Amino acid sequence: MRTVIGTDIDHAVELLRGGGLVAIPTETVYGLAAHALDEEAVLRIYAAKERPRFNPLILHLPSAAAFERYAVNIPKACLTLAEAFCPGPLTFLLPKRDIVPDLVTAGSDRVALRIPDHPLTLELLRRLDLPLAAPSANPSGYVSPVTAEHVAEGLGGRIPYILDGGPCGVGLESTIIGFDGEGVRLYRHGAVTAVQIRDVAGLPVHLAEGGAVTTPGRLKSHYAPRAPLQVCDVADGLRRLGGAATAVISFQATRFDPPPRWLRTLSPAGDLREAARNLFHALRELDAAGADIILAERFPDEGLGKAINDRLDRAQSIHRP
Ligand code: TXA
Ligand code: MG
Repeated sequence: MRTVIGTDIDHAVELLRGGGLVAIPTETVYGLAAHALDEEAVLRIYAAKERPRFNPLILHLPSAAAFERYAVNIPKACLTLAEAFCPGPLTFLLPKRDIVPDLVTAGSDRVALRIPDHPLTLELLRRLDLPLAAPSANPSGYVSPVTAEHVAEGLGGRIPYILDGGPCGVGLESTIIGFDGEGVRLYRHGAVTAVQIRDVAGLPVHLAEGGAVTTPGRLKSHYAPRAPLQVCDVADGLRRLGGAATAVISFQATRFDPPPRWLRTLSPAGDLREAARNLFHALRELDAAGADIILAERFPDEGLGKAINDRLDRAQSIHRP
């Protein structure tokens, strides 16, 4: 199959209505979209990504007004948060309606809903008037794509069309939350932080880490580059390993001795938003350069630093040949 990159919304609408796959830009990462209510179309997503069927998909919608078509018992706090942060990088887990295929939620009785903040994709969603199921547009387990070219690198030949909306502004996947008797439960860190959620919802926010509920997205095999990655004191790591085929991801400009062969400084000025935007570019570039090992600093544990550390931790948990 030939994969075309373009900006033709009409073409994307036609492909999606017909049950085909289209990669779509969002503010977080590119998604691999299909008509969410068409099970054959959804199966194509799992096949193209080689994604295990037990890992459910987020439903993308044009506005919070559409939430009640797919979910029930929507708490007031959900609507307050959607009002404050959506369209934007925040995904809500809510009790699903029967209309949502079990294939989308991997059998769970909750569905994930999100309103992506990208003009092309919002227009596409309005025109379609259908929910789009869309995981990140990468082969299962690899780093999420933040440009149309990244999508083509991973899925070229497997999908017909990539809607090119330029580089993603946030660069990390959305924050995922659910609601329970105790308040808000945070399943994945992202650009909307726990502190912001607590302040706007007026509810306590609990981390789901190691908790009773397992979100498949919390599998440790996610977000990993091919080169093994270690989060560590980089200066120590370089002394241990030498600089020869070693790559380093650092937050701000730092001099290392011995110098690493490749150095990616994510934000010379120390801006966590800029660092988040650059992280997946850096991981892909270092893989392409042929680094034997990637050493990454731990980022400040605040704001977007939590999401960056989370992705780095998960990237280091798997060793890929
Ligand atoms: O920013 C994002 O969220 C991007 C863009 C494309 O929207 N999407 C994304 O999708 O990151 P994905 O599939 O790569 O990650 C979504 C995570 C998955 O790990 C999945 O396990 C979890 O959300 N998830 C989706 N539906 C769920 C459900 N019903 N219950 C529990 N977890 C769910
Ligand atoms: Mg993903």
